[in-house]
Amino acid sequence: MPIEYSNREKSYELYRKGKQEGTWDPDHYDLEDDKEDWEQFSEAEQNRFLATCAGFYDGEEDVTRTLAPYMMALDALDNDEMPFDTVQEEMYLAQQVYEEAKHTDLFSRYFEEVFGTQNTDPYREGGYQEHGYSTDNLYDTADELLAAINSGDQQELVYSLGEAYLNYMGIVEAQLARSGYLSFDQMIDLKAKEMGRDIVLESFQESIGKVRQDETRHIENGRWVMKQLAIAEPDIVQDVYEPRIEEYVENRLLADVPMEMPFEGYDQAKIGKQTTQYLQDTIDYIGRERFEEYSDVRQVVQTARAAD
Ligand SMILES: [Fe+2]
Ligand SMILES: [Fe+2]
Repeated sequence: MPIEYSNREKSYELYRKGKQEGTWDPDHYDLEDDKEDWEQFSEAEQNRFLATCAGFYDGEEDVTRTLAPYMMALDALDNDEMPFDTVQEEMYLAQQVYEEAKHTDLFSRYFEEVFGTQNTDPYREGGYQEHGYSTDNLYDTADELLAAINSGDQQELVYSLGEAYLNYMGIVEAQLARSGYLSFDQMIDLKAKEMGRDIVLESFQESIGKVRQDETRHIENGRWVMKQLAIAEPDIVQDVYEPRIEEYVENRLLADVPMEMPFEGYDQAKIGKQTTQYLQDTIDYIGRERFEEYSDVRQVVQTARAAD
């Protein structure tokens, strides 16, 4: 038995937490009231809300389809040489892939029953997904992991896993998805206020609350593994983590993405501030002293803006 059950690591603790929290069912939500609310949205509001939802629907499918190679790569690592138990992490990911499938399931149901379509293409066009850092990248990441597994080279495996975790858990989950939740919160709050209500799209907010709870575990596990990989190969921070972070900062945090915003009072700057803090949280978890360029993200962003 490869797992020492008296020595449970972070990933195993998160797996146990997921057994308790991750048992919700997308089919459990009644969407009839949401459908009525949705008809109260103007066409421009619907298109803007759908742009973010389309990014999520596609993104949840992308993460479901590309996670399996992570488990295979962990299994190809020499467990005795690593500062963490790769088998406990594989168990964690087995749970995560099920949860991602359930998130895809939720969006597919919501698109069908509330939005009345399964086609995300018209809403993705010009949407946030298309700007600089898309979940489409996850397919390349998965291919690179498979190549590293075939090479059998341990350092290549560690580096490829580091890049994969940074892309998937560090950027797509911790940055892109979480900024999407902040956007949903604002759009829904503003619409409710306009309609003189406490809440609109109540089942959406409730079920997305469950998705967010799952994602909090995925993100924490990802940060923990990135830290373990940095302990195993300290150069991974400069060679892999910082270049990917730079790409994200330049294409997302520093880029002004022009998007029509029909929800009056929407505060994009507030979301930018919060997502900058999320990135700092990831860096702090890995250990900011390990970073050269990006130990203080706010500083980097301010310096770049001042130079513009
Ligand atoms: Fe998800
Ligand atoms: Fe996730």
